[in-house]
Amino acid sequence: EQINKGNYEHYMQKEIHEQPESLTTTMRGRLIRGGSCKAKSVLLGGLKDHLKTIRRSRRIVFIGCGTSYNAALAARPILEELSGMPVTMEVASDLLDRQGPIYREDTTVFVSQSGETADTLQALHYARENGALCVGITNTVSSAIARNTHCGVHINAGCEIGVASTKAYTSQIVVMAMLSLVIGGDTISNQARREAIIDGLFDLPNKVREVLKLDQEMKDLAKLLIAEQSLLMFGRGYNYATALEGALKVKEVALMHSEGILAGEMKHGPLALVDENLPIVVIATNDACFSKQQSVIQQLRARKGRLIVMCSKGEASLVSPGGSSRVIEVPLVEDCLQPVVNIVPLQLLAYHLTVLRGYNVDQPRNLAKSVTTQ
Ligand code: G6P
Repeated sequence: EQINKGNYEHYMQKEIHEQPESLTTTMRGRLIRGGSCKAKSVLLGGLKDHLKTIRRSRRIVFIGCGTSYNAALAARPILEELSGMPVTMEVASDLLDRQGPIYREDTTVFVSQSGETADTLQALHYARENGALCVGITNTVSSAIARNTHCGVHINAGCEIGVASTKAYTSQIVVMAMLSLVIGGDTISNQARREAIIDGLFDLPNKVREVLKLDQEMKDLAKLLIAEQSLLMFGRGYNYATALEGALKVKEVALMHSEGILAGEMKHGPLALVDENLPIVVIATNDACFSKQQSVIQQLRARKGRLIVMCSKGEASLVSPGGSSRVIEVPLVEDCLQPVVNIVPLQLLAYHLTVLRGYNVDQPRNLAKSVTTQ
């Protein structure tokens, strides 16, 4: 066991720090750099026979549980943008509870690290019965979900042992960004955007390497938060998923109440919780939602909120005038890839909080890596 952890104390820690390499493996052989006569492009061999059907479908439905659901949520905006298709989200158990409508004209995408989660697998059977095209995105070759879908993409993140998913999350987002590029196709009008995303993907492992340097800073932050009862995380747009996933990490391993909040919903409830004691992480990296997020920060500050703001490098003064809040500065990347960078400090925070609070990082109480019963 010790050997597999290498120089790390825990699998979760190892898996967080492995992300530059796992992301590289996920993209290997799938990104084409372009050249004098070749355009930059993406190849996903497992989908090529079904691309026409996917493009002709009436909508795309993402289905998953836990972290895998959050990864799909992070990728939803770029898939909507590049495909122009409606993309809906389903938590697998909820789709089954409702027996929600799934049609033959749908493309359903099943996202699962293990490929064995009972609810997701059951939802896959349900979608097949309803005649939908079923695409699998898993980390486990020959898993039940990989075997029962019509086609799919392996994320190739390598074996993940920590119960709380980390490197699989970032690899899932990258696969779904590549999926968006593949489904979206190449038109003149989106060429610059596509190229920027592909360049961003090539550089992503470096940016993740850079953000991992925040390890000590996150440990220091964890020391400040060690005795808190609760931690809120506000995000929106591409980073609503980051808020949900950051909060899920803290809840799962550090056994601290944490909630991801859609910042646009702040006035419809969450604002009532704000006081000078409750710590709040606000994700405010620079993208199209930035000015709205600045206004959220102002409103939280007006209620004396205890803010920890995640912003793009060099923009601390825009989110924390006069150094009024603690700031986490992260490298700026293409907006749709920013969730991959932004989750890393929150994974580190959850990890350090857990160790400092004396809990089992790799096997949190009551949880299992793969939930194979309903
Ligand atoms: C469990 C794990 C989570 C995971 C979820 C979905 O709850 O503890 O880390 O996100 O299952 O698992 P899957 O293998 O389908 O991604």
